[in-house]
Amino acid sequence: MYSTAPLRVNELSAEERGVYETLDPARMPDHVAIIMDGNGRWAGMRSLRRFLGHQQGAKSVQLVTETASRIGLPWLTLYAFSLENNLRRPRAEVNFLMRLLRSYLENNVQRMMDNNVRIRYIGRTHELPTEVQERMQWAAEETRRNTGTTLTLALNYGGRSEMVDAFRALAAEMARTGRKMEDATEEDVHRHLYTAHMPDPDLLVRTSGEMRVSNYLLWQIAYTEIFVTERYWPDFRGVHLLEAIAAYQRRERRYGGLSEAEAEPIPEDAQVTA
Ligand code: IPE
Ligand code: IPE
Ligand code: MG
Repeated sequence: MYSTAPLRVNELSAEERGVYETLDPARMPDHVAIIMDGNGRWAGMRSLRRFLGHQQGAKSVQLVTETASRIGLPWLTLYAFSLENNLRRPRAEVNFLMRLLRSYLENNVQRMMDNNVRIRYIGRTHELPTEVQERMQWAAEETRRNTGTTLTLALNYGGRSEMVDAFRALAAEMARTGRKMEDATEEDVHRHLYTAHMPDPDLLVRTSGEMRVSNYLLWQIAYTEIFVTERYWPDFRGVHLLEAIAAYQRRERRYGGLSEAEAEPIPEDAQVTA
């Protein structure tokens, strides 16, 4: 339904092509979300300072986005900076991440144009430094008309605060329209999330081995398939995105239901023992 991004499979590397060819084109995900974790540990393993891990991680963002655009992935949503990172990391690290983001946008808009990538953001971005917000708006405006992958960066993002923002917006809308909160539906909440314009993620990837969601897209991942890799984000490349998609395609998504083969009749008088 959402797969409108054009394919540029001929631009994949030979290694990527090898994995891509094992994929079922009819079962490609529409939306992949990634928790980009492990920059600090990647640096630590090499006796490097943490900021060098972030710098290398920015390289992965660019390369993974390009592969996503080549396979025509419509939506790629990357967790780049959480509300908790903003609150709990040392100021020096937060400031570095802000500078890195600015520089990333400045230097990568041309590549986004070349790859037909449109950039957007989710999160409480109005709390970020003004000069960062200005760069963000500029990059979004420059790439607005691109029709390939939509790259969404989650910045100063928290899943719970997104829901709080949605409930507040919904309450305001109801006050305006005279509807009652008791009549609120899932659709009403969905319409006020930052992601209202996107499908829910089909696949959530987390790098660096942690088995937690760290306040990411809490509402949206209700039925998302989760793939955790031990690989640190700075070592994650397009081929690993394709491997994650291959693993995703081996899953059976059930949404709480059963496949036809499993749906067996149960006699009315079946013994109940509980
Ligand atoms: C992920 O890497 C990037 C951000 C959260 C900004 P980390 O900085 O969390 O790296 P680790 O988890 O300490 O290795
Ligand atoms: C999640 O990583 C946030 C981002 C990737 C931006 P963290 O490193 O902040 O998560 P925790 O602290 O390990 O849960
Ligand atoms: Mg981390």
